[in-house]
Amino acid sequence: MERIVMYTVDNQKDTISFKDVQGQHITAVERNVLVLGSGGREHALAWKIAQSDRVSRVYIAPGNAGTAAIGTNIAINIADFQAVKDAVLQNRIDLVVVGPEQPLVDGIVDFFKNDNELKNIKIIGPDKKGAQLEGSKAFAKQFMEKYGIPTAKCFTVTAENLNDGLNYLETLEAPYVLKADGLAAGKGVLILNELDDAKSELKEMLSGKFGSASAKVVIEQFLKGIEVSMFVLTDGTNHIILPEAKDYKRIGDGDTGLNTGGMGAVSPVPFVTSDFVGKVENRIIKPTIEGLKNEKIDYKGFIFLGLMNCGGDPYVIEYNVRMGDPETEGVMTRIDSDFAELLDKCAQGKLNEAHYQVSPETSVTVMLVSGGYPEAYKKGMKITGLENVCPCCVVAHAGTKLDGNDIVTSGGRVIAVTAHGKNIEEAREKAYHNAKMIAFEGKNYRHDIGLDLMNYHA
Ligand code: AMP
Ligand code: GLY
Repeated sequence: MERIVMYTVDNQKDTISFKDVQGQHITAVERNVLVLGSGGREHALAWKIAQSDRVSRVYIAPGNAGTAAIGTNIAINIADFQAVKDAVLQNRIDLVVVGPEQPLVDGIVDFFKNDNELKNIKIIGPDKKGAQLEGSKAFAKQFMEKYGIPTAKCFTVTAENLNDGLNYLETLEAPYVLKADGLAAGKGVLILNELDDAKSELKEMLSGKFGSASAKVVIEQFLKGIEVSMFVLTDGTNHIILPEAKDYKRIGDGDTGLNTGGMGAVSPVPFVTSDFVGKVENRIIKPTIEGLKNEKIDYKGFIFLGLMNCGGDPYVIEYNVRMGDPETEGVMTRIDSDFAELLDKCAQGKLNEAHYQVSPETSVTVMLVSGGYPEAYKKGMKITGLENVCPCCVVAHAGTKLDGNDIVTSGGRVIAVTAHGKNIEEAREKAYHNAKMIAFEGKNYRHDIGLDLMNYHA
């Protein structure tokens, strides 16, 4: 493929111009989007983006067997920013959407901004400093404290002030919350009922239980309430609130067993009333965006608010700088407007000009996982029955790959099935009926996604 050496986008004329190494100009009304990542979230994002009339081609790097069916997979390691750059230039990418947090925490947005050939390419995600909202719990807590954003009381400990940390634990009531400061693949949060256990875990964490991620530990007050995930798309000034979702994190029915990446989701969430959203917007979203501006953070991307609803008042449990998984699988199906346009406007700082509409229907997402997950599980199991799933459902591949003509499992979370209905009951019915069509050895899933919300009346 020819190497593109110059690249200009004229948003007025809706054209992109390229100049190749031979000096040839190519002008095209072409909008190619690259989604970075390989999970259900990225499949859902790519699926939604591919529906846009304004998008010519969708590329996914590295993608999975599902994304290969709706776009073009590019087999690169996205931790290798030079490889991402080559893919962007070779495929004339106009907009890059960063799915997972790691490349953001590693500074992929800064890499684009500081590269002459990439600086005009639009990219969705915060810069490296902004990504610290997820990359460092201590940074996030300081940020919230500074900007008056409601969150649990906390104390940050390192090996140097271990005794202060132990003393702080004494001032709290059980249960005790200990969080590794850095990214720990969703495993860095411990909740302990006994003070003695909390103290010994604190010592273990500081001695490297989660490697360098727990060289610093945040001790937090336990918040009682019900959790909800809310998602904001911001261009650093304007924002829109995407549909919220409730995630089901534990492996077992009735919220039992080990924590997972997420076993299912429901959107909308009945207790997220307009009054609650108003509180989130005024107490959390606006001060967050003001804070980012004040800290000179370049933030054009998603803010995922992990919230605790404590008696009607929202508290931030965590910030993530990406969309949630499996929440995205259900959230994307509820966005009725052109999502590629939303992202495009966001990247240009013109989110206020974008058209945004949400479906009033309810989505229920059921995640099919490998037997044994979240502990050891087998890979390479052949997946069958996908063709029997009703076209009314959206099937997002989370951990799959192509093996010749077969689609096989390649991860713990394998496939997310999302269905819509006029209420949770109807959506659940459809989602479970269709989830049963898909088979692979060891298939496991939760049977109670949305059950707890069915009788909820705000
Ligand atoms: P995090 O990685 O910060 O989202 O924490 C993982 C999970 O631990 C959350 O989804 C909550 O269920 C729980 N959690 C974290 N912090 C708190 C807290 N301060 N109070 C109660 N539960 C918490
Ligand atoms: N589903 C929770 C997360 O994506 O972190």
